[in-house]
Amino acid sequence: MASVPAFAVRHVPEVHYGPGRARAIAEDAAALGDPGKPVVLITDPALVELGVATRLMAALEGAGAELALFAEIGGEPKQAQLEAATEFVRRNQAGLVICLGGGSAMDVGKVAATVALSEDGPAVFAMEGKPLPRRRVPKICLPTTAGTGSEFSSTNIFTNQAGRKVWVWGSETKPERVILDPELTTTLPPHLTAWTGLDAFVHALEASTNVRQHPWNNLYAHKALGLIAGALETAMREPENLAARGAMLLGSAYAGMAIDNCSAALAHNISHALAALAPVHHGLATALGLEVVLRWQVEQDQGAFAAAAAACGLARDGAALVAWYSEFLTRLGVARRLPAAFKEVDVAALVAEMQAPETRYMRHSSAREVTDAEIERFAQAVMMLA
Ligand SMILES: [Fe+2]
Repeated sequence: MASVPAFAVRHVPEVHYGPGRARAIAEDAAALGDPGKPVVLITDPALVELGVATRLMAALEGAGAELALFAEIGGEPKQAQLEAATEFVRRNQAGLVICLGGGSAMDVGKVAATVALSEDGPAVFAMEGKPLPRRRVPKICLPTTAGTGSEFSSTNIFTNQAGRKVWVWGSETKPERVILDPELTTTLPPHLTAWTGLDAFVHALEASTNVRQHPWNNLYAHKALGLIAGALETAMREPENLAARGAMLLGSAYAGMAIDNCSAALAHNISHALAALAPVHHGLATALGLEVVLRWQVEQDQGAFAAAAAACGLARDGAALVAWYSEFLTRLGVARRLPAAFKEVDVAALVAEMQAPETRYMRHSSAREVTDAEIERFAQAVMMLA
């Protein structure tokens, strides 16, 4: 019988799932917040425009909650945004922070709530620069994309003043409660549904195939692969299909738990490196990165990629996964193209970023050893997409 290596499983926040569940947000606020203090809602302006944030605010205010809105989160958050959000939570003396949005709004909101009661700015805590404060504002996360899994993650990413992607890490940053409501995801446009869904797919695939993978975590990761492989195309083509949106939300949740336990690998090494060089959507960069490295990884499969293929409903064979993944990208309408700004970027710059200290651990978690020559070859292949 094969032996099972030692492993750890991180805690999962309390979860409430259901279409329409977000309408009961006032009960969550009453249960977790401080009744004498305001609720701060952290979200992105698009969700205010679409009415998603507004409906949540109406539900809270209808129940008598005092509310303050911070809706200045753009994609791929910067240090200045994180500092502004933290200052906003402090100034309003929030008794609860509600994070509504994709990975950016959730990462910012989680960190702001975690550090607001300290004297320090949020960047002080990046890369474990200082232990996270013991006193923290409670938080609730409501994802509006089915992608990052930030609602289950200890890792919160932002770009610091030097232009580096860094993170605040710690289970203290996890929310006290997660509300998964598929209705919140129906306004997501098709290309973002595809890109964020592929990010979740890669989380599950990398968490279940890298050197840290273990049988418990594979329960989440493999379930996520099956759900996403089965539902993503429908969610993209039929935005109002709550069964598909619900499957995607659960798939990205399980993938988020999986990556929280076992972390990412080479595709994320590439996407983080790309993001340091020019603006690019994280899901798109990650999806393209995986296509560049997948065949090479599968060549020396010890069985993990074959198991992942089976979890996707394919033959238990890594090669089947390689072929299927490329077809999947095509069916989802993913152009094999990086944004125009990458035309100015040279291969050497990408190689340097892929070897930077912040991304190195993702390279070394690859089950197949990645040499410097391989990094060079992958960087060349990626830059062909510019
Ligand atoms: Fe990701």
